[in-house]
Amino acid sequence: MALSTQPYKGARDFYPEDKRLQKYLFGVMRKAVEKYGYEEYDAPILEPLELYQAKTGEEIVNEQTYTFTDRGQRQVAIRPEMTPTVSRMVAARRQDLAYPLRWYSIPNLWRYERPQRGRLREHWQLNVDIFGVADLGAEQEIIEVADYILQTFKAKRDMYTIKLNSRQLVDAMTQDYLKLSEVEAFTLSKLIDRMHKMEPGEFIAQAEAILSPSERESGLSDKFQALLQSKTLEDLPAELQQHASVEELRKLITALTNSGITNVEFDITLMRGFDYYTDIVFEVFDNHPENNRSLFGGGRYDGLVSLFGVEPVPTVGFGMGDVTLQNFLESHNLMPQLYSETDVYVVIIGEIYAQAQPAIKKLREMGLKVAVGIGDSKIDKQIKTAVKKGLHYAIFIGENELNNESFVLKNLEGQTEEKHSLERIVSIIKDHRKNR
Ligand code: HAM
Repeated sequence: MALSTQPYKGARDFYPEDKRLQKYLFGVMRKAVEKYGYEEYDAPILEPLELYQAKTGEEIVNEQTYTFTDRGQRQVAIRPEMTPTVSRMVAARRQDLAYPLRWYSIPNLWRYERPQRGRLREHWQLNVDIFGVADLGAEQEIIEVADYILQTFKAKRDMYTIKLNSRQLVDAMTQDYLKLSEVEAFTLSKLIDRMHKMEPGEFIAQAEAILSPSERESGLSDKFQALLQSKTLEDLPAELQQHASVEELRKLITALTNSGITNVEFDITLMRGFDYYTDIVFEVFDNHPENNRSLFGGGRYDGLVSLFGVEPVPTVGFGMGDVTLQNFLESHNLMPQLYSETDVYVVIIGEIYAQAQPAIKKLREMGLKVAVGIGDSKIDKQIKTAVKKGLHYAIFIGENELNNESFVLKNLEGQTEEKHSLERIVSIIKDHRKNR
């Protein structure tokens, strides 16, 4: 039986046109975050499994992480996220780094998920994190960077919504206001995290199942459901309005709105699946009806670096996936036309390959990216190849052309031909490249 040509389920091959798209996406991301002073780092794709066991969250570790035992009997994971890795790296050089530390990375991550629109088993994720800032300035900058990335992709603010919540407020809601035990509170927050994937009736039934009979009898379920109806901070019950986290959220929303980021809102149901978040959490949602997924997810996680036995480092960051971003750009018609990196195809006329070398070399030296029609003596076939590759120009080089130092430049889209010197040809092609 012949081997399958399909990639592993839920993973992608990147043919040159896909890689071109990826280069565009990553290029814009890099440019945007570097504008804010973020520096790129990287790390191995394999980590000891225990790195994720402490704080990544049960669902990701037990159900979604690819693990194996290596030849030395070590439990190894293919990284499902970058946050524990970057925390490990910061902890390793805790004393030597210059804070605030602004780092970014675009790792390939693996999670054993059910492949569907916006969700694959591997994705690339821009991670942007700021280490060493304990106050709201860090959240403000990080969310501003997230917004700036989408603005750089030419998105309009009505295309996405930035949703905010706070783990401190969730704790206050579940433990102080609803007076749940720590275990009940934790289980309920995990259930709220899955709320939008469930039928309302199912959600209520599961929420009630978490409560004890006496809690149910005392009307706690109704109190909880009423709480979930809060659409703004002002809708929260008076007792919760006093909580410090509400003031923090208010300040952050005001600061962002003042800097022009008006599409920010409080979302009481935003939980974020990871156990390491300690305070404000946020997600950026695509408003397109076909992509009801988050584009970015992040928050403050002040306790992760200290898991490595060093002093804690306050940290805020986010991850943005390439799959959801691509869906976003395509659905909102923001994806630009992308062209081949190659500027021109040299069509060789006759057996003059060796004699043509100096001219070809000159084209490259003058700054063009040049592919040559080797291995095919038929002119037609060489042109066909250039067209199939989506190139805009071909240059014909034959004995006459070399003798007269005048070459035919064929515009493969317009099907026009002009005769010029190599220098002139280079300037025409460069102008075209600049203006397209
Ligand atoms: P996350 O919410 O799991 O957060 O992922 C962040 C983003 O990555 C999501 O909003 C989505 O765009 C994308 N993403 C996640 N899983 C998949 C998947 N299976 N297929 C396609 N795209 C996916 C984190 O991973 C945190 N570690 C982010 C972070 C960084 N928090 C602080 N710093």
